[in-house]
Amino acid sequence: MILPLSLGERSYDIVVRRGVLHQASEFLQLNRKALIVTDDGVPAEYAQTVAAQCATPVLVTLPQGETTKSMACFELLCRTMLEHGFTRTDCVVAVGGGVIGDLAGFAAASFMRGIDFYNLPTTLLSQVDSSIGGKVAIDLDGVKNIVGAFYQPKKVLIDPDTLASLDPRHLAAGMAEAVKMSATFDKDLFETIERADDPYTIVEDIIIGSLKLKRMVVEQDEKEQGLRKVLNFGHTVGHAVETLFGDQYFHGECVALGMLPMCNYEVRRRLIPLFKRLGLPTVYPECNKTQLMMVAAHDKKADGFDITVVFVPKIGEYEMRKIHFDQLETYLEGDLWK
Ligand SMILES: NC(=O)c1ccc[n+]([C@@H]2O[C@H](COP(=O)([O-])OP(=O)(O)OC[C@H]3O[C@@H](n4cnc5c(N)ncnc54)[C@H](O)[C@@H]3O)[C@@H](O)[C@H]2O)c1
Repeated sequence: MILPLSLGERSYDIVVRRGVLHQASEFLQLNRKALIVTDDGVPAEYAQTVAAQCATPVLVTLPQGETTKSMACFELLCRTMLEHGFTRTDCVVAVGGGVIGDLAGFAAASFMRGIDFYNLPTTLLSQVDSSIGGKVAIDLDGVKNIVGAFYQPKKVLIDPDTLASLDPRHLAAGMAEAVKMSATFDKDLFETIERADDPYTIVEDIIIGSLKLKRMVVEQDEKEQGLRKVLNFGHTVGHAVETLFGDQYFHGECVALGMLPMCNYEVRRRLIPLFKRLGLPTVYPECNKTQLMMVAAHDKKADGFDITVVFVPKIGEYEMRKIHFDQLETYLEGDLWK
């Protein structure tokens, strides 16, 4: 399936097809220098499959994990392109999860003020969410995504076959982002996930459903002036959990935990059993609530002492609520804690 994303001259196609990594040269212009970026947790054959289709591949394999979204790795990618004589007509290809996509995309956005970027996401999280929409970034001094850009890829190739090698916890983390989008925008998709005997058997439908939602949002609000902020459902408190417990939880798991306080009782009553079936956490780690609130309030979406949070009153609906930092505590009460 090909999903065209319309953004004027920045429009591109998202191709979702089993085995598409083997057909990359059909969809991408690979008869030029291509910096292929992957990490050592991604099965090496994925990037090699793509490299074999390139005229002049330069393959960089970075250490896996969030710490790779760093200034040092960004510099390494830029230096590698400089050393290999990359010009503005060459390209960067990400083969990996959200970490590799965000980092390689930022290097592509910056090198010579922007060279073509192709994203080939290999985790469920990156296939349903991070590979489209053009947010690219690195972290600095423990602050996530603080240096970055909006830079759209020229094409996104999604090969659901790559999920076969992904461990169950990372699959679950990806499902969290799909639940996030359907809980806010699409009751039918949410209920499809909720009613499936095993949601992982319909993962391709979930990828396509989620991509259609994200596409609709990005087409209306590329730079996150309004509607796109709804995709931050679960992220205010989720980012705080990630800041404090990033060594224990994956990004998608933090988002799952972050959704629970930001919805009404009826919604939470549906999210908790669904998260349990998907293998996502439903109880907060023991921690100092005030500290968690402080970290959440210092999130870059905070505006003075007010924070705008996305609240889900009913599945498929959302409210943007501007709340005072002190009010956050009332959201964090109840059965969320160990
Ligand atoms: N740009 C955006 O819009 C956006 C949206 C959501 C999240 N993000 C970012 O995405 C990142 C998280 O992405 P992620 O969850 O994909 O994590 P990740 O990129 O760290 O990948 C998770 C792990 O899976 C391994 N892996 C990747 N593909 C694999 C495969 N097919 N088989 C086996 N192992 C594989 C990786 O080596 C890594 O160890 C965070 O940095 C987050 O901030 C960005």
